[in-house]
Amino acid sequence: MKVLVVGGGGREHALCWKLKQSPLLSRLWCAPGNAGIRDVAECVAIGSEDVDTLVAFARDNAVDLVVVGPEAPLVLGLADRLNQIGIKVFGPSAAAAALEGSKGFMKDVVWKAGIPTAWYGRFTDMDSAKAFIREKGAPIVVKTDGLAAGKGVVVAMTLEEALQAVDDMMGTKVFGDAGNELVIEEFLDGEEASFFALCDGKNALALVAAQDHKRVGDGDTGPNTGGMGAYSPAPVVTPEIQAEVMERCILPAVRTMAAEGKPFTGVLFAGLMITKAGIKLLEYNVRFGDPECQVLMARMKSDLLPILLAGAEGRLDQVSVEWHDDCALVVVMAAEGYPAAYKKNTVIGGLDAANGVQGVTVLHAGTALNDNGQVIATGGRVLGVTATGATVAQARERAYDAVDRLQWPEGFCRRDIAWRALARDA
Ligand code: AMP
Ligand code: GLY
Repeated sequence: MKVLVVGGGGREHALCWKLKQSPLLSRLWCAPGNAGIRDVAECVAIGSEDVDTLVAFARDNAVDLVVVGPEAPLVLGLADRLNQIGIKVFGPSAAAAALEGSKGFMKDVVWKAGIPTAWYGRFTDMDSAKAFIREKGAPIVVKTDGLAAGKGVVVAMTLEEALQAVDDMMGTKVFGDAGNELVIEEFLDGEEASFFALCDGKNALALVAAQDHKRVGDGDTGPNTGGMGAYSPAPVVTPEIQAEVMERCILPAVRTMAAEGKPFTGVLFAGLMITKAGIKLLEYNVRFGDPECQVLMARMKSDLLPILLAGAEGRLDQVSVEWHDDCALVVVMAAEGYPAAYKKNTVIGGLDAANGVQGVTVLHAGTALNDNGQVIATGGRVLGVTATGATVAQARERAYDAVDRLQWPEGFCRRDIAWRALARDA
């Protein structure tokens, strides 16, 4: 099979690394890829949001399956365009990708489906948004309806913060048109976890849970990022909770989307809050998490390719997925300054030494090769040092051993990945 993976980050390196191991694979491309992906796939210089060029490439090269990493091309309709010309794709239509693209749409589906979630209101004018906030009181959560690069959420502990968030998002438009509509919802207190399922429009296949670390600094301090590390399994998601999440948060969404004429195909990523009152759905994403995908692929024993193909062909009820017994953990190495302005094009050494640590694979997120053939950092999140081990403690030891073999003075990482899991064990 000829496969095209769309994207160029750590998630796509993990997907390519895993797909490369499939005996069914004849050719693997990645658009645009990165310096690490080059080792396992042919990188093609097409941006992940350049839908027209991606569709033309898939057609001209008779690609058998397209696997889309990020949400943006899905929201732009890449899957619809590929389906129109008969190319199989694992990823949702634009209409179904609205589960991530519009928080208001997502909340309406979730409410209609009877999925446990925070109460909410949708607002298109500032006065009624503020009146709702005054009526409900703080703490309360204010969100832009549209995509705001993961930043359009204010968890307001006071009334003033919540009202200010309305002014910023809808008045000053700090997130542009994403703030034309707001979702205001109940504050939920608990432990967060991510759960992933594959869907084919009617069936859902459970994968596993992971936990990530959104804040930039140790001890969950500092600004939010795309994710500084992750691990799986997530001890808070017990087998009982996982079964409940499938029954109450995944399958009802698949049925409701199908009933609405927007069948969901692709990865359904449920952001969960495990509260004292039980599980609550915070949000859906319509793709694998980054860096959660890195640990999922490290743990997956089954061949990924026939599973994704079954997803694209509506046959997920006919496949199963097996997992290694090992735990997996990823430490993200970012460029100094991230998530604010950071240095670019600094040279990274020691990659072979890091990859030489038992159980370790260094997945690239934001890298390129310079004219001398050296690997350089080109993004904020640059590497995902991924390790497996018999326990999360062993995986963590191996990952940090590898981190310490890297020669990249301009990079940094958190030193406390998986602290929740380790605290639980202790
Ligand atoms: P989201 O983009 O919706 O995942 O929100 C980003 C982060 O904000 C989540 O990962 C949570 O940490 C937090 N958050 C979102 N919604 C709520 C809520 N209703 N209650 C408490 N925290 C929330
Ligand atoms: N790591 C969280 C996300 O991919 O949205």
